Amino acid sequence: MAVKELVTWGDPNLYRQSESVDSSEWNILPELIGDLRDTMNAAGGIGIAAPQIGVLKKVAIIGFEKSDRYPGKEPIPETVLINPEIEILSNSVLGNWEGCLSVPGMRGYVERSDHISLRYQNIDGETVIRELTGFPSVVVQHECDHLDGVIFPMRISDFSRFGPEETVRGRPDYS
Ligand code: NI
Repeated sequence: MAVKELVTWGDPNLYRQSESVDSSEWNILPELIGDLRDTMNAAGGIGIAAPQIGVLKKVAIIGFEKSDRYPGKEPIPETVLINPEIEILSNSVLGNWEGCLSVPGMRGYVERSDHISLRYQNIDGETVIRELTGFPSVVVQHECDHLDGVIFPMRISDFSRFGPEETVRGRPDYS
């Protein structure tokens, strides 16, 4: 396993649709998941998706115990998501100053549904269905967006709330 170079915004591969992992490809997963985990942890991230290391497959990891990037947030247990799909369960939204390992140094205020149903396969190929609320639901939506070629700046509705982290974190509306 290895720490991979992150694909950053502007690279066309970050805006492409990823493909599902079919059962004949399961053998690629141990190395891919290991690379994703190593790269995420080396960068201090709380989630990462395969396109961010140049692999256009529907695989992502979320989870952290303690994050300097998101100091106020409750831990999320590490979860590997294979072929994740989301269903939005609520129109009520939660706003967060999001960042992304592929958009280094930047933060933007993004509103997303605060209640989703998540369906994915685990490493054993079993289908898992979970309901998520709050920040974990936001993190999952951010990672699933990567698998559809969408990065968080494309979700910002008010560009006055987008900028370098070192600048925006001094704002009274930053949290
Ligand atoms: Ni991201």
